[in-house]
Amino acid sequence: MKVFSGSANRPLSEKIAVSLSLQLSSIELHTFSDGEQRVKLEEKVVNEDVVIVQPTGIPTDKNYMELFFIIDAARRNGAKSITVVIPYIGYQRQDHVFRTGEARSLEVVIRFMEQAGGTKFIAVDTHTIKVPELFIKPFVHVSALPLFAKIIKEEDLIDSDSFLVSPDMGGIRRIKQLSEMLDDLPYAAIEKNRDLKSGALAARVIHGKVHKRAIIVDDMISSGGTIVTACKLLKKKGVERIYVFATHPVFSEKAPELLQASFAKKVFVTDTIFVSKFSQFPKLEILSVADVIAEQIKYE
Ligand code: R5P
Repeated sequence: MKVFSGSANRPLSEKIAVSLSLQLSSIELHTFSDGEQRVKLEEKVVNEDVVIVQPTGIPTDKNYMELFFIIDAARRNGAKSITVVIPYIGYQRQDHVFRTGEARSLEVVIRFMEQAGGTKFIAVDTHTIKVPELFIKPFVHVSALPLFAKIIKEEDLIDSDSFLVSPDMGGIRRIKQLSEMLDDLPYAAIEKNRDLKSGALAARVIHGKVHKRAIIVDDMISSGGTIVTACKLLKKKGVERIYVFATHPVFSEKAPELLQASFAKKVFVTDTIFVSKFSQFPKLEILSVADVIAEQIKYE
């Protein structure tokens, strides 16, 4: 087996390789002055099982193009199988057409990856259960929820007046699963509305009983708007302590500053997306999903 890393998250790729008792295979990744990219595998892959690790967070389009080219390089150089580990799938929030006239963008990038030669895909915590269905080739879903449950227990974040909170109704399935892992911890969900054109957020209603200590769980933090809005509402409703768990630190715009200034006491994310030291902040803690991904690769 040979493991190649794109440029999006080399530290995670290295950890996955170590977990597989391998070293990353050598690859040349070059961006020309006009922005075009060139990739070159520096090791032979004929009849090899190839694993490519590349999340497609910011810069999403650049990361996708690089990934398409690495997959193509592996296919045309004779790889026996090409497992694409795409811990965070960019465009997954566009998994269906919301308004007439829109593209189904997620489907477009999936077809490109499959057409380029990807034979199997592994991703962490997809935005909805529809996402895996869009893949024609085998797709394996890895969940960060057991890791979150373990940390919540280890860090003693639960007391007799705690509850899980989904910051939107779409996350209710996720929150129920985590509740089961935490001996049926009570949960609630916030009704959030986002204006599809302007992106403006509003959250007014909490479905479920409010307790004093909240653990918010989401699949991703992008602008930080959802979490900050949820924290404000929870505080207004009498919540005294808030912890946040989100799988993917997309961290667009001013998310790190907003989260640090928020009412949340701590923000736990995973390393599906690389967080540069400039985007890290005191309340942030990054958990690694490298071992669970490696387990899945071994299992397959
Ligand atoms: C929405 O459905 C997702 O689960 C996240 O809550 C959302 O994408 C986070 O985005 P932002 O941080 O920009 O509010």
